[in-house]
Amino acid sequence: MTEPPRVLLLCGGPSAEHDVSLASARSLLAATGDRVAWVPRVISRRGHWLDARDSHSRLTRAAADDQDEAGATGPRLDIAALAGVDAVFPLLHGPYGEDGRLQGALEVLGVPYVGSSVLASAVGMDKLAMKAVFGEAALPQVAYRGVTRHRWRTQREAVDAELDGLGWPAFVKPANLGSSIGIVRVAGRAEREAAIEGAFGHDRRVIVEAAATGARELEVAVLGLDDPRTSVVGEIHTDAAFYDYAAKYTPGAARLDVPADLPARVADACRAYARRAFLAIDGAGLARVDLFWQPEHDALWVNEINTMPGFTETSMFPRLWAASGLAYPDLALHLIELARTAR
Ligand SMILES: Nc1ncnc2c1ncn2[C@@H]1O[C@H](COP(=O)(O)OP(=O)(O)O)[C@@H](O)[C@H]1O
Ligand SMILES: [Mg+2]
Repeated sequence: MTEPPRVLLLCGGPSAEHDVSLASARSLLAATGDRVAWVPRVISRRGHWLDARDSHSRLTRAAADDQDEAGATGPRLDIAALAGVDAVFPLLHGPYGEDGRLQGALEVLGVPYVGSSVLASAVGMDKLAMKAVFGEAALPQVAYRGVTRHRWRTQREAVDAELDGLGWPAFVKPANLGSSIGIVRVAGRAEREAAIEGAFGHDRRVIVEAAATGARELEVAVLGLDDPRTSVVGEIHTDAAFYDYAAKYTPGAARLDVPADLPARVADACRAYARRAFLAIDGAGLARVDLFWQPEHDALWVNEINTMPGFTETSMFPRLWAASGLAYPDLALHLIELARTAR
C-alpha cells in the first residue's frame, strides 16, 4: 500500500466565513480517516497561525468560540508547519484564503496546494474583475456598473444617472467580500444611496446590478484542470427576500435541492456556462458556479464563481459531486491528487 499523502489543512482564517471553514475542516477530517495524513492548522480571526495543540483543541470543540482571539498569537505564516508536506489544502473562504493572497505565499514557498492559482483566486473574488473576464468570454450576465468611492464622492450626479439606467430593483454589493455581507436589494434612489454608502464601509469599489427578479438560484460544481468536469445542477430555496447572510448560515433557513428539477436544456446550459466560467478565470481544482434562471423570460445568467466553496459533507459542492457519482472522501483525495499534478 502506498503511504497516505501528508497534507496541511488550513482552516478558520480572518473572514466572516471563519466558522464555516472550521465546520468544513471537521467534516473533511472525519470523512477521510487515515487515507490522508492530515496536519490541521487553524488560522485565527486575526490571521495568526495557531500551533498544533491549539489547532487541535479549536477543531475538537464543536461550538464556535473566540478563545483563539483571547490570548492566542502565532506567526502570520508558519513556515515550519509546511515542512515535509506533500500539499496544502487551503480550506478558507473569502478574503485572505480564497483571493490569491495565501496562494501567493504558497507559490513563493514552492508548496503545491489545492485549488486555484493566485490570478484565478483573485479574479474569482473580485466581482468587477470577474464580470469583466466573464464578459470577455461572452457569458450572459445581468446589466451592472462599478463605482469607486472617489467617483461617488466627486461625480454623484453622473453616477446616479448611470445607475438609474439599471432600473429597479437593483442589488448593491461591495466588489470584494462574499457571504452576502454588505449586499442590499434596493428599490429607490434613497435606499440605493444608503446601500452604496454602507458598501463603501467594506470596500473602495462597489457594484450595482439589475435584479434578476423571480429567478431560481442554480449552482454547478466544477472539478479538474484544463479539461474540467461539471456536476449535476443544484438549486437553493429560501423564504428570505434573497440568499442573504442569515439565509446562508442559519440552520434550516435554506434548502438545497440536488439535482434541481429543471428542463434538461436548462441544466445543460448551466453546465456549459459553468465550465466556460471556470476556464475563463483559468481556475484549477475546484469551483462552484452560481447562476440565475428566470423561467418567465427563459433567461439564464451567470452570477458568480467561488473558487473555494463550502466543503462540509452537506454543503452544495460535495452534494453535487455525490449526486454525480463521486463520494465525499474520494472527492477530497482527487483534489489532493490534482494539487500534485503539474499543468
Ligand atoms: N442581480 C441579482 N438579482 C437577483 N438576486 C441577486 C442578484 N445579485 C445578488 N442576488 C442575491 O444575493 C445573493 C448574494 O449575491 P452574490 O453576488 O452571490 O454575493 P456573495 O458573493 O456574497 O455570495 C445571491 O445569492 C442572490 O440571492
Ligand atoms: Mg453568492
